[in-house]
Amino acid sequence: MAAMSKPNGVGGPGPQPASPHATIQHLRIARLPIQFWIPAVVALAVGVGALPWVIGDAQDFFYQAHVLALVHVFTLGWITAAMMGVMYRYVPALTKGRLRFPALAGVQLALFLAGVVGMVTGFAIGHWAATAIAAAVMTASVVLFAMNMLACLVPALGRGVAERGLALAVVFLLAAAVLGLVLALDKSFGLLGGSVLTNLASHAHLAALGWVTMTICAVSYRMLPAFLLPQTVLPPAAGWQLGTLAVAVVALSVSLLGGGGTGVWAGAIALNLLAYAWIVASMVRSRQMPIDWTVRHALAGACWLLAALALGATLAAVGGDGEWGNRVAGAYGAAGLLGWVSNLIVGMSYRLVPGLVLGARAVAGLPPLSPLDISCPRPRPLVFAAWNGGLALLAAGLLAGGLAPARVGASVLAAGGLTYAALTAWTLSFALRRAARRSARNPLRVLGDEAPG
Ligand code: HEM
Repeated sequence: MAAMSKPNGVGGPGPQPASPHATIQHLRIARLPIQFWIPAVVALAVGVGALPWVIGDAQDFFYQAHVLALVHVFTLGWITAAMMGVMYRYVPALTKGRLRFPALAGVQLALFLAGVVGMVTGFAIGHWAATAIAAAVMTASVVLFAMNMLACLVPALGRGVAERGLALAVVFLLAAAVLGLVLALDKSFGLLGGSVLTNLASHAHLAALGWVTMTICAVSYRMLPAFLLPQTVLPPAAGWQLGTLAVAVVALSVSLLGGGGTGVWAGAIALNLLAYAWIVASMVRSRQMPIDWTVRHALAGACWLLAALALGATLAAVGGDGEWGNRVAGAYGAAGLLGWVSNLIVGMSYRLVPGLVLGARAVAGLPPLSPLDISCPRPRPLVFAAWNGGLALLAAGLLAGGLAPARVGASVLAAGGLTYAALTAWTLSFALRRAARRSARNPLRVLGDEAPG
């Protein structure tokens, strides 16, 4: 990815700082993305490992203790940690700035880890007071993250679509965290009126559409042209798509909280995301570079997005509280979080994670390596097939109400997810250890014979 590979004041080698204190701080900041990605792959492994066991609960009813815990292992532990890690490197590079409050970033990481572990444990044991305390810790972490990100993004709002999209996404994350905290407090103090399920849906859509989907759209508008086209050319429709998505997500969340009609806004979001899929498809059609596993995961993610839109429209029509609504809700969540979002993160990680690791090594003064030395591309077809094939079986099993196929699908998906997590952990380990070039140890290897993606 052209924009990410340039050294910058955060993760890349860049100019060496003068004082020892500045050197230590430079190294801490360069390691931050790695420190988010390590828990992210651990959470992914825990989540896919637990999935075959928790799937029976989800089939009974999606709103219960173990499902809430597993949802947040994926959404906070895996997805949000991976996105924060990338943003600590990417946002200062994109906005040509530096982190304004670097000392807060380490505190943010510590609060984030404590918040995730506390929330998942609180959900799993059904202890709402503990969940609310952990949610407050998580919200504090999100506030610190927003301070650093918005300090870079706000002065750069006039520069481009990606900057505006990412700033909106951070604001949506703040809103989702605050509403999540209020939902947890509501169980003890009765703060909210309305229905538990529509309040919950408001939080879930603020987070999944406002934070996660907005970030993915903004980042993919920046990265896909860089991966696929000789120049970074952004289609003009991209800005409209992000702006109207933001308006529709606010309107949908407010309608859900107020218990009012949501059909118009759900329809507007579906159309908006169809426009996104069309923009991405037109970039892929006009590509001048070969299709690799990054692009294959992005295409699979786009197909799952279409499936999630169809399931979301069905859910809006049938409602989430009956037996059929419960089946659709399970398949909708799986298609959205594991199909659409996770495919994009896995695919982009093949390009981004080696860059994060090499940047951290350079700042730490470790011997230089190439992306080939720290990537293991051979199992990628297996990861792709197991993840997407397993997920298709899981979603079909959830829809049909069949526990056996859903469990087999979850197990196949877990095999793909565990393989991916192990390979990514191996790549990340190079940020922390000395290692010689593989190519130097193997005289028969020809440098440049495999692309990172
Ligand atoms: C940022 C901090 C977050 C906090 C404090 C938080 C808190 C909560 C709480 C307390 C609930 C239960 C609400 C209730 O029972 O009324 C919940 C449910 C839920 N949250 Fe979050 N959450 C956060 C982030 C996220 C993210 C990032 C996503 C998605 C990308 C997400 C998706 C969901 C979903 C789908 C449910 C419903 C799960 C189910 O019914 O099984 N949350 N959250």
